[in-house]
Amino acid sequence: MYRFEVHQVEKPLEGEVEISGAKNAVLAVMAAALLADGVSEITNVPHLKDMKTMSDVLRVIGCRISGESHELKIDTRGADHLEAPYELVKTMRASFYVLGPLVARFGRCRVSLPGGCAWGPRPVDLHLKGLEALGAKITLTRGYVEATCEGRLPGGNFNFPISSVGATVNVLMAATLAKGTSVLQNAALEPEIDNLVDFLNSMGAKIQGRGTRTLTVQGVEALRPGKCYTIPDRIEAGTFLCAAAITRGCIKVTKVFPEHIASTLDAFRDMGCKVDVGNDWAQVDARGMELKPINVTTLPYPGYPTDMQAPLMATLVSIPGNSTIQDTVYNDRFKHVAELQRLGADIQVNGNTAIIKGGTKLEGTEIMGSDLRATAALVLAAFISEGESTVSRVYHLDRGYEDFENKVAKIGGVVIRHSDDEEDDNL
Ligand code: UD1
Repeated sequence: MYRFEVHQVEKPLEGEVEISGAKNAVLAVMAAALLADGVSEITNVPHLKDMKTMSDVLRVIGCRISGESHELKIDTRGADHLEAPYELVKTMRASFYVLGPLVARFGRCRVSLPGGCAWGPRPVDLHLKGLEALGAKITLTRGYVEATCEGRLPGGNFNFPISSVGATVNVLMAATLAKGTSVLQNAALEPEIDNLVDFLNSMGAKIQGRGTRTLTVQGVEALRPGKCYTIPDRIEAGTFLCAAAITRGCIKVTKVFPEHIASTLDAFRDMGCKVDVGNDWAQVDARGMELKPINVTTLPYPGYPTDMQAPLMATLVSIPGNSTIQDTVYNDRFKHVAELQRLGADIQVNGNTAIIKGGTKLEGTEIMGSDLRATAALVLAAFISEGESTVSRVYHLDRGYEDFENKVAKIGGVVIRHSDDEEDDNL
């Protein structure tokens, strides 16, 4: 286990950060490789714990995973153990993505229910209802989902009652191999879905409506292995831009798709930062500025992402005046609040809304990460907390930020990793 020693910045953070591929996009594509027999290839893959966990899930099923540097090759020719065990699914919910591909291609599978998560119950009912709408028979036994169908899935229509990234991923993948045509309404619009659609279509799937809320999928008998370039990680980009705002510095993120971070950039503009955008880069400049408090509501894409909620909150702690953040995607995703308070932040939570009275003096101390984005938020806050802070449970951060300490060092920050064998990490 590791902890971070984070130093208060001596001067505002400045420089360029190259953004890695989006782990949430890779996770869906890795599962989708199961839909074909052969070797699929993914490039721009970040080196992250979640990629290893998904590789382990695929290996249990019988796949071979190889690849150098930022490439992954997934050979599904040995896939015959149609099960994803609890030990893996509980550590990463996206393991549940194998459900749709496995039932669609093999007609049966058994996948553990993910269980709870640090910020609430996070159900999978829509994944299951959507697969049922395509004709899968679903039973729940001893914490496992068993999905079956006679021959190919018939296909069918499903209207997602709320926008869900994961349910869209699972149902879309399954629909590609159905006998008939499926229409998925109110599908999620997140860029990771477009990335998946492109990969599936490269495999021979017939999906129309990319980038819209209605995906029409004409099922095909078989798919061939595909190739995929992973889109840039819009949340990693947003987090580093927060590092510019919170330290009143200037950071340019490169290798990004600026349209994917439009709502994030709007929030920086609202604070009063100078925002510049190029073809594949974006820059937030807050040097010498008195930033303004803002009110933000998280929403499904293209709205402000819930995954940016914690890094944004840390940033708003640095801005004098009252800001609010309402999280409408997850009502209870506020574990970082108590830790920010330990640094000296003045934040009240009322239902799904946090009221941040910014501008209080922050003092470095020991703080603890509770989930991936919350841990990144604590590092940001530690940058402007007097002296040094110790952030424990950084395994959360390691799930989603590649090469974090080095990227921070490039912009002038100091984050030192220590191993911490003594830590009690049982949540
Ligand atoms: C994905 C992202 C996660 C992000 C979230 C919202 C991945 C691997 N993870 O998670 O980082 O925070 O999108 O942008 O891509 N819901 C149900 N029933 C379901 C499924 C979801 O009620 O069956 C609800 C959830 O509780 C939540 C909302 O739908 O309130 C959106 O969740 P969803 O988009 O499914 O999130 P994930 O795909 O789990």
